[in-house]
Amino acid sequence: MSRQVIIHLSDLHVGQGQKETVRVQRLFEGVSKRHPGVPVLITGDITDNASEVEFAEAKHLFTDLARTNPILAVPGNHDYAWKGNLMFDPDSWSKWLEYLGSPLGWEEQSGKWLERDSEPAGVDGLGIWRHNDCAFIGIDSGDPDDKVISARGYVSDTLCRGLKGLLKANAGKTRIVMLHHHPFTEGFFWALKGADRFLSTVKNNCEILLFGHDHNYGIWYERGGIPLMVASHKCTSRVSGDCLMCTVIEIHDPGTEKSLISHRLEVV
Ligand SMILES: [Fe+2]
Repeated sequence: MSRQVIIHLSDLHVGQGQKETVRVQRLFEGVSKRHPGVPVLITGDITDNASEVEFAEAKHLFTDLARTNPILAVPGNHDYAWKGNLMFDPDSWSKWLEYLGSPLGWEEQSGKWLERDSEPAGVDGLGIWRHNDCAFIGIDSGDPDDKVISARGYVSDTLCRGLKGLLKANAGKTRIVMLHHHPFTEGFFWALKGADRFLSTVKNNCEILLFGHDHNYGIWYERGGIPLMVASHKCTSRVSGDCLMCTVIEIHDPGTEKSLISHRLEVV
């Protein structure tokens, strides 16, 4: 029997205060010690204000973790586009690409993802990374064209068509889709634009869906024909006492018909 473990983190908000940086260090050290070699998937809001200083700090922390664990990350609204309730920074996408745009720590492949010239070619904000019997599919759900100051994101028709093709081409693998925005939260400032077409694209068509954004933990089994969905909490928030927690997902026999997915929250 083969087994693939993955760690899901989200909403680190490096730069919000000194405690966020210290807690990211603790989280990463804990993951590195307890789960060396396990891929770490981070669903956005890695920085708090998308400043050069915060991106550099985050890259420094990522580089340390990547010595033991490969990392894939997608941007959140605090990294790019409208940054929560702050001003729009037209340079934040290029900063994202410069500091965090390339997956780190992977032995079997290197390069960029989520860019127009990365796989799949010709689609902005969509990327695929293959590892053993898993296909990690990343989505940039930021919306730089949104004229309203808000935390909402956007998934375009073009992106969904590209996503549909990727999911179809990788049927048979365990397909793990990751984006920042919560695809079925509500509210003018929070709801993801294009959520309906996104959810109909992934319906019955991926095995795991990971996201963050709301800072509230949520788990759904078999919703919309997807075996497991996880909405991560803000991982630099203490859950109880001084505890920090991460999501650990185990996939038994990935990419087979008898594949079984289990999930737990783990104190780091
Ligand atoms: Fe956040």
